[in-house]
Amino acid sequence: MEQLSGRTAVVIGGGSGIGRGIALALAEEGMNLVIADIERDTAEAVAEEARKQNARALAVAADATKPDSLERLAAEAYGEFGAVHLLSNNAGVVPTLGLLEDRSDDDWLWVMSVNLHGIVRCVQAFLPRIKAQGGEAHIQNTASMAGITVSSVHGIGVYTASKHACVGYTLSLRKELADAGIGVSVLCPGMVVSNLAATSARNRPEDFGGPLREPGPTNSKLLAQMMSAEECGKIVVRGIRENRAYIITHPSTLTQVEEQHRELVADYESERRAQKL
Ligand SMILES: NC(=O)c1ccc[n+]([C@@H]2O[C@H](COP(=O)([O-])OP(=O)(O)OC[C@H]3O[C@@H](n4cnc5c(N)ncnc54)[C@H](O)[C@@H]3O)[C@@H](O)[C@H]2O)c1
Repeated sequence: MEQLSGRTAVVIGGGSGIGRGIALALAEEGMNLVIADIERDTAEAVAEEARKQNARALAVAADATKPDSLERLAAEAYGEFGAVHLLSNNAGVVPTLGLLEDRSDDDWLWVMSVNLHGIVRCVQAFLPRIKAQGGEAHIQNTASMAGITVSSVHGIGVYTASKHACVGYTLSLRKELADAGIGVSVLCPGMVVSNLAATSARNRPEDFGGPLREPGPTNSKLLAQMMSAEECGKIVVRGIRENRAYIITHPSTLTQVEEQHRELVADYESERRAQKL
């Protein structure tokens, strides 16, 4: 979608980190914004930042895992702006580090409910309206490098599984919507400054064990090496304009992808030899 100016974006998980960076980059491009987050105050703060960039911006409290909440969000967005051209899904959580054999059902269900099913529900809430309005539109779902590679660091297996699922869902959606003229991209960021690792469990619902009050570990040396959310937002704008399937933020991570791909090809070759093909 080349033209952004004057069009409307809904940024879910827009109150912090990557969602905030995307919202501000879109404001810079002249888009109208609906900033949605489970935390209304942070959504309002980002809407205020966008207004300072002369964007029209509305803040809405919305839970990406709750269809009723998303219906209200969609009704507010369409009520205010009449159309939605870009849906940017960034709500995501990460559990504290832990080996897969030690993970509880609550850990699994909470992470999958936000990182996969939350994205599915956001799309379900908006896609029928986007199709009905007609014309160009784009959906961008945020996965992770953990959606296309498996880290050698142990302890993020649940997150990795949820992000691989998000990539599979998003690329399938891309194929299904190509003929309707709706672009779809999956954002696979490397490390970007945000509140994810430190505090995402603050919003864990009671159904899945309740909020964790203690912030997770922060590593100031690592933080200093991370990309800013604002820079990430600018990369996302480029990816949307070019309708890239994958929006990659850290090109240096290609070596990890190639290494994994070599293993896949080697296993194909082993079986090809075994079948004497
Ligand atoms: N920061 C990174 O290094 C990094 C790397 C790869 C992928 N990601 C992904 O980027 C996305 C954004 O994360 P971030 O790093 O900016 O973290 P963040 O915690 O700073 O931002 C996430 C936002 O989503 C909101 N949120 C959480 N659950 C929600 C829900 N159910 N409904 C609505 N909003 C909800 C939070 O309140 C928060 O404002 C996540 O999907 C994350 O997995 C982040």
